[in-house]
Amino acid sequence: MSQLSQKEQWASKIGFILAAAGSAIGLGAIWKFPYVAGTSGGGAFFLVFLIFTLLLGYPLLIGEFVIGRHTQSDAISAYKKLAPHTLWHVTGWIGMIACFILLSFYSVVGGWIILYLFRAVSGELGGLSQVQYGELFGQLISDPFQTLLAQFIFILLTIIVVAKGIQQGIEKASKLMMPALFLLFLLLVFRSMTLDGAIEGLKFLFVPDFSKLTSEAVLYALGQAFFTLSLGVSVMVTYSSYLNKEQSLPKSAISIVVMNAFVVVLAGLAIFPAIFSFGMEPNAGPTLVFAVLPVVFNHIPFGSLFFIAFLILFLFAALTSAFSMIEIIVASVAKNDAKKRQSATWLIGILIFIVGIPSCLSFGVLADFQVFNRTIFDIADFTVSNVLMPLGALLISLFVSLKIAKDTLFDELRQGSTISKLFFDIWFFLIRYVAPIAILIVFLDVLGFLDF
Ligand code: PHE
Repeated sequence: MSQLSQKEQWASKIGFILAAAGSAIGLGAIWKFPYVAGTSGGGAFFLVFLIFTLLLGYPLLIGEFVIGRHTQSDAISAYKKLAPHTLWHVTGWIGMIACFILLSFYSVVGGWIILYLFRAVSGELGGLSQVQYGELFGQLISDPFQTLLAQFIFILLTIIVVAKGIQQGIEKASKLMMPALFLLFLLLVFRSMTLDGAIEGLKFLFVPDFSKLTSEAVLYALGQAFFTLSLGVSVMVTYSSYLNKEQSLPKSAISIVVMNAFVVVLAGLAIFPAIFSFGMEPNAGPTLVFAVLPVVFNHIPFGSLFFIAFLILFLFAALTSAFSMIEIIVASVAKNDAKKRQSATWLIGILIFIVGIPSCLSFGVLADFQVFNRTIFDIADFTVSNVLMPLGALLISLFVSLKIAKDTLFDELRQGSTISKLFFDIWFFLIRYVAPIAILIVFLDVLGFLDF
């Protein structure tokens, strides 16, 4: 058998888009975006985030797709195939390390969803006051036993699905859950926007105040754009390696960007009007969404039932992202060997859990352990989102535009789609010049080398 036919493939066209969108849409849009926007100045941050998404995120997503589908290889082999005997495969390593650390703290928040879900199902979350929710959540995340157990369950669910292989596990579930998530979000947005004083929240999110836009906020917007699209860590390289030549890469990429941006906006519209209406502060940090959402659901008839449904979908969105983080590591270790896949997934999953323990405890017993005013959780997040992801994205944009022949790129992009030469030229310009220069400027600015 040829290597190609042995390789796992997505079962359907829509399957790939849903799985890649499933990787993109997750805690980044629903949990991280509101809290980072809340601490980084609201409207101006949002605008810069959108610009980065369009001018850097979209071209880079296509770039990762090109590498993956062209080589049909995992994150390390892909770079080795295209640039043998060079160090470019370090880009794949950066992705693997980033995803390892990422899942180690992502699972902490995944665990919080599970804990909330248990509470909601047992009826403990209904009818509390806003302050009581805050207190309950504070207690919950500082309890070492419960949070570690929940984090473990989250990783366990990830292991079980990924060990089975991409087709059966990831693809089927996404088809059902994603549309359901959209629908529930619409309900939430409707309720939030009809609360008294909701307009202040809309202003916060949509009216940019550039005086609040610091160098750090711009870096966070850059990190957020890559984070929500799962970029810079070769996850999209890995996912598109399971793709056949009939699918249009630019079209798949734009549908993922649009769906993802849609969820980001929905999350913003669900959270910020409520925050202002309830007189809460938008800069509460990582716990923001968990403190606000139950209060909004409390204002909806049958709110506790809807909240349970929402938590299940939220958990699902987080899991489909987690699958992709572990998948990139497993694919590189196990190649196409099904037996190895099983054991590799278990081993890697358990290691990630162990490494993630301090992040989990940093909301409780390790809360005072801080470096540069950041907890262990914050350090892990900062390292991945604002260092490794932009760095990986920088390398990938250089790799695509310098190491792959222009003809090859054009040919690969034309497989399954009818793009014009103009589209190709614009894309190439963005990935060759705009993306690397923008990332470098943002880095240098934050390090204090530029005087903006
Ligand atoms: N995009 C995911 C989210 O928004 C996070 C992620 C980043 C997943 C990188 C995989 C790789 O939640």
